[in-house]
Amino acid sequence: MSWFYRNLIRPALFTQDSEEIHNRTLRALGWISRQSVLCDVLASFWGASRDCGIGLFGLNFPNPIGLAAGMDKHASAVPIWESFGFGFVELGGVTWHPQPGNPAPRMFRAVADKALVNRMGFNNPGAEDVAAKLAKWRMLGHWPGHPVGINLGKSKSARLENAAEDYANSFRALWPHADFFVVNVSSPNTPNLRQLQDRTALDEILAAMQAINRQAAAGKRESTKPVLIKVAPDLSFEALDGILELVEPRQIAGIVATNTTITRPETNDPRLQQVYAEPGGLSGRPLRARSTGIVRHIHRQTGGALPIIGVGGIFNADDAWEKITAGASLVQLYTGLVYEGPSIAKAVVKGLRQRLDEAGLRELKQAVGIGNA
Ligand SMILES: Cc1cc2nc3c(=O)[nH]c(=O)nc-3n(C[C@H](O)[C@H](O)[C@H](O)COP(=O)(O)O)c2cc1C
Repeated sequence: MSWFYRNLIRPALFTQDSEEIHNRTLRALGWISRQSVLCDVLASFWGASRDCGIGLFGLNFPNPIGLAAGMDKHASAVPIWESFGFGFVELGGVTWHPQPGNPAPRMFRAVADKALVNRMGFNNPGAEDVAAKLAKWRMLGHWPGHPVGINLGKSKSARLENAAEDYANSFRALWPHADFFVVNVSSPNTPNLRQLQDRTALDEILAAMQAINRQAAAGKRESTKPVLIKVAPDLSFEALDGILELVEPRQIAGIVATNTTITRPETNDPRLQQVYAEPGGLSGRPLRARSTGIVRHIHRQTGGALPIIGVGGIFNADDAWEKITAGASLVQLYTGLVYEGPSIAKAVVKGLRQRLDEAGLRELKQAVGIGNA
């Protein structure tokens, strides 16, 4: 199937504008998501076995391959990702205020490098709309069997000094609807957002969110929800260490490493040069090594005690294995799905099982960080 996708379907899809085809595909997937029979048919092709599962921050992940933030920003196809073999999803980024994002065009393919450049700028319908959509999926009985996370961003209209309130509003509205939350302070496409990776600013955001977390959990007699931080691959190790100092005081459940990069690889290919001249974040193949380096640093600094979700340039089981052995307990992908098609999650899970067997390991967690010993 992946041959079929790469050689027949992808060339046809790639003749069209990338955002246009993304929106059309998501609309189609949203329709299919409401037809349980069709979801079952897709799952019979691409559903992954419950292999390489792992328990993390109180949640059970049937397999470690997740859909990264940005693909299903509007929660329009929540049930379908399980049929495509994913073991968890991160919906969003969602902001408190609905917003259109940056002017189009804002998503570009660098095909020869299997990469994308985007400057979407958190185009999304706002936290209350996404909360209503999630409530509806649950009411219809179309809720996936895997954990669902939500990526939270800052509204463009919110001033940096009001960021904590802005994130807290989204968190309050979405709290009942997801299993875990990711604070995104690392997108390059919202002006000054990445300044919130500064320790003091981040501390304020987390303090506001954890207060809501405790209140909401007490009200429902449930436990608090895991809150993770998503970091940029362009941070210095020193700045990363500043974030890691907040782990204990602010009960950070884990780090998602990494978002897209503002750096660009060297190239003599004029078509790539043209795409790389576009402002925005770069994802896919050229990001892989850099994001693995960040995963490795966090794992070493925390002695493996802090769960890491590794993301950036994963296209196959070797790429996922690289992240896991560098310290990631879970991995996510976005660009890999665009280039390899819907069989990617199943193929990666299968490949990970083979690598575990070759290494003489029974469980995935035994492989986490073994490359750093
Ligand atoms: C078009 C597009 C939109 C994205 N939107 C978000 C977002 O809203 N929030 C976020 O944290 N990351 C976002 N990302 C980043 C991805 O979640 C991921 O961190 C990054 O693309 C690296 O993974 P990949 O190489 O597998 O694509 C986006 C990426 C792309 C390509």
